[in-house]
Amino acid sequence: MGNYFPRWTNWVPLKIAICLGFTVVGVVAAANYYFTPKYTRVGYEPTQPVPFSHKMHVGEIGLDCRYCHSFVEVAGHSNVPTNQTCYNCHGPDRGQIKKESAKLALVREANVSGEPIKWTKVHKAPDYVYFNHSVHVNRGVSCVSCHGQVNEMEVVKQAESQSMGWCLDCHRNPENNLRPLDQITNLNYKPEQLSREEFYRNLMTRGASLQSLGEEISSSKPNKNVANLEALVELAKNTYGPKVTQLEVGKQLKANWKIHATEDCSACHR
Ligand code: HEC
Ligand code: HEC
Ligand code: HEC
Ligand code: HEC
Ligand code: HEC
Repeated sequence: MGNYFPRWTNWVPLKIAICLGFTVVGVVAAANYYFTPKYTRVGYEPTQPVPFSHKMHVGEIGLDCRYCHSFVEVAGHSNVPTNQTCYNCHGPDRGQIKKESAKLALVREANVSGEPIKWTKVHKAPDYVYFNHSVHVNRGVSCVSCHGQVNEMEVVKQAESQSMGWCLDCHRNPENNLRPLDQITNLNYKPEQLSREEFYRNLMTRGASLQSLGEEISSSKPNKNVANLEALVELAKNTYGPKVTQLEVGKQLKANWKIHATEDCSACHR
C-alpha cells in the first residue's frame, strides 16, 4: 500500500482541533462582552475623582438638576458643571461650605490650576447614534425615565440599558412616560399628586378645547357631551378612577402636543 497522503496531513486533525478551540474561546469571550453589564451597561458605576453625591445635593439640599446641568433644556448635550459651580458653595472666599474638607481638595486644586475635574463618563451613546436632550425634556420626558432615581444615588450609576430596543420601546408608547413640563426635574413626581381640575384647566389655557379633551378620554366609549370643566373632570373620574393616572396624563399630552416619537432609522443614525 502506497502512502497516498503527504506527511503533513497528520497534523490536520490537530489544527482543526486548535481552530475549534479558538472559536469556542472566541464565542465565550464575545458572549461575555455582549451580555455582561459593561455592554448592557445597566449598573455601570465608575468611581469618581471627587465623591460628589447627588443624594445629598439633590435629595437633601434640594438643588434642581438645571442648577448644574444648565444646558439640558436648551442643547442636545447635557453638560456636567464646571468647577465654578461647585465653588459657588465650596469656595473659601464664597459659600465656604466645608471649605477645608479633604473630599473637596480636588475642587480647590482645580480652581487654582484652571484644569477641569476629570469626571468619568457614565452614559455614552455610540458615535453612530444621534441623541438630543432638549428634544426630550421639552416634550415631557423626565430625566428619571432615562437615568433612574438619580436624586437617591450616592454615586451615579447607569439605570437603563440605553440600547436601541430601549429607545424604540418608548418611541412606540411615549404616553407611558410623558408628564407636565414643570415636573421634568422632579424625580419623585407621581401623576396621582396632580389636581385633575388644574391639569385640564392648564391644557385649556394653552388652547385645548373641551371637545378634544373629552374625546381623548371617551375614545373607546360613546361620545358624551362635555359642557364645562366640571363635566370633563367628572368624565375623567368615571373613566380613570378618583386619582389621576399616567395613562390619562400621557394620552392627553401626546394628543395635545402632537407627540410623534420617530422610528425612522435616519433620525437616530445620521
Ligand atoms: C450640584 C451640582 C449637580 C446637581 C444639582 C445635579 N448634578 Fe448631576 N452631576 C453633577 C456632577 C458633578 C456630575 C459628574 C460626576 C458624577 O457622575 O457624579 C453629574 C453627573 C450626572 C449624571 C451622569 C453623567 C454621565 O457621565 O453619564 C447624570 C445622569 C446626572 N448627573 C443627572 C442629574 C439629575 C437627573 C439631576 C437632578 C435630579 C442632577 N444630575 C443634579 C452635578 C450635579
Ligand atoms: C448650593 C450649594 C452647593 C453647591 C453648588 C455644591 N455643593 Fe457640595 N455641598 C453642599 C452642602 C450644603 C454640603 C453638605 C455640607 C455638610 O455636610 O455640612 C455639601 C457637601 C459636599 C461634599 C462632602 C464634603 C464632606 O466633607 O463631607 C462634597 C465632596 C461636595 N459637596 C462636592 C461638591 C461638588 C463637586 C460640587 C460641584 C459639582 C458641589 N459640591 C456643589 C452645597 C453645595
Ligand atoms: C430620553 C432619554 C434621556 C432623558 C429624558 C435625559 N437623558 Fe441624559 N442622557 C441620555 C443619553 C442617551 C445620554 C448619553 C448621551 C451621549 O453619549 O451623547 C445621556 C447623558 C447625560 C449626561 C452626561 C453628558 C456627558 O457628556 O457627560 C448628563 C449629565 C445627563 N444625561 C443629564 C440629564 C438630565 C439632568 C436630564 C433631565 C433634565 C436628562 N439627562 C434627561 C438620555 C436621557
Ligand atoms: C422615555 C421615552 C423616550 C426614550 C427612552 C427615548 N426617547 Fe427619543 N423621543 C421621545 C419623545 C417623546 C420624543 C419627542 C417626539 C416629538 O417631539 O413629537 C422623542 C424624539 C426623539 C428624536 C427626534 C428629534 C427630532 O428632531 O425630531 C430623536 C432623534 C430621538 N428621540 C432619539 C432617541 C434615542 C437615540 C434614544 C435612545 C438612546 C431615545 N430617543 C430614547 C421619547 C423617548
Ligand atoms: C430611536 C432611535 C433609533 C432608531 C429610530 C433606530 N436606531 Fe439603531 N440604534 C439606536 C441606538 C441607541 C443604538 C446603539 C445601541 C447600543 O449602544 O447598544 C443603535 C444601534 C444600531 C445598530 C448597531 C447594532 C446594534 O444593535 O448594536 C444598527 C445596525 C442599527 N442601530 C440599525 C438601525 C436601523 C436599520 C434602524 C431603522 C429600522 C434603526 N437602527 C433605527 C437607536 C435607534
